[in-house]
Amino acid sequence: MKTNRFLFLLSGEAVETAVQEVKALFEIFGADCGEILREKQILIVESNAGPQAVKAMCARSAEIRLACLLKATIESSSLKYISQVNFGFVQSPFCVRVKNFSGEKRAIERDEERLASVIWMALQDLGKKPAVDLTRPRTTVYFVLAGEHTSVCEFIWKREKGEFAGRGPSEKPRFHPTSLQPRLARMIVNLARAKENEMLLDPFCGVGSVLIEGLIVGAKACGVDLDKRKLKDSDVNINAYRRLYKSKNYNLNLPVVVSSRNGKMRAEIHGFKPAFFHKLKAGDATKLEKIFKNNSVDAIATDPPYGRSSIVGAKNIDELYSKFLKSAHKVLKKGKYLVMLYPNSIDALKLINKKQWQVQKIGDIYVHGSLTRKLVVLKKV
Ligand SMILES: C[S@@+](CC[C@H](N)C(=O)[O-])C[C@H]1O[C@@H](n2cnc3c(N)ncnc32)[C@H](O)[C@@H]1O
Repeated sequence: MKTNRFLFLLSGEAVETAVQEVKALFEIFGADCGEILREKQILIVESNAGPQAVKAMCARSAEIRLACLLKATIESSSLKYISQVNFGFVQSPFCVRVKNFSGEKRAIERDEERLASVIWMALQDLGKKPAVDLTRPRTTVYFVLAGEHTSVCEFIWKREKGEFAGRGPSEKPRFHPTSLQPRLARMIVNLARAKENEMLLDPFCGVGSVLIEGLIVGAKACGVDLDKRKLKDSDVNINAYRRLYKSKNYNLNLPVVVSSRNGKMRAEIHGFKPAFFHKLKAGDATKLEKIFKNNSVDAIATDPPYGRSSIVGAKNIDELYSKFLKSAHKVLKKGKYLVMLYPNSIDALKLINKKQWQVQKIGDIYVHGSLTRKLVVLKKV
């Protein structure tokens, strides 16, 4: 089977978690993903996936900034060896971009001009008629300099600004200060491998941030919370986005762009067909088996309470988390994932029953300047 190499530029805030997200996305799309190289924010993987599938993965990602198809690697950050590359893949009009992570100071615009003329001559040698167009190129050639390597790539996808705009905690119709940022909510939905038409559960759903991101990627979202007012708020928030997206025609290969200008929400392009199915239940996350059948849930992504004041159904926060994990284990299907954010003060490893869960990842997650939390990805054994 044909394999491709893909280069991803990841957001620099939590590179390790971003790498995990990329691997989770390949798994969601049923493609293999072998890591070839990791250098700063650059990740290169080998996969049987095609560029269109990778484009769709990127559109649902939280942490990917740029994706390219890798065409050649030069074991040097000096651009003088570039003429050795076969530029047969370039279609005119073309455009050249340079991303520099080599640590070396470079005059990027001058590099781009120089490289464009190398490609121009290579295309002439190949009997093609070269042309450059910086605004609407057919091929954008990326030269990515990292460490000692130069990756020569063909552009696939780039994140547009404002993709998560309009869904921030204070932009939702019903606000709560503990509400998650949509990008972080999307990331935990992806790490939980929530798939289209499958059931995603947030057992501490609050005002619905995780559920909304789950619905956007096409999952059927189920929320549980002890607090009935929060469930009502969740319903109001979800319905606001549901109305917004329903009024648009969807184009499956384009990213989500939602913006709120002058206080009015606006959906510009939508990348997915939202499932438009959500269910909210008042209940205790430590007794999920009272609400859901055993082995019935496909993915769990959640942000449980972290303050003493919000603990219900347990003596202390440790007990709340252990009881929740025990209950979640009953309702989640075997081999499926639970992703949980939690405060630094909790020693989650101590609370996880290793006979029930395989710990896939545990790490820090940057929330904002003064708040770093932990994140754990668990697979039900
Ligand atoms: C940190 S907030 C979740 C915020 C949510 N991620 C959002 O973006 O809105 C924790 C939620 O857990 C709920 N909660 C606390 N104890 C619970 C329990 N035992 N079972 C279910 N929900 C509980 C609280 O009412 C609160 O809404």
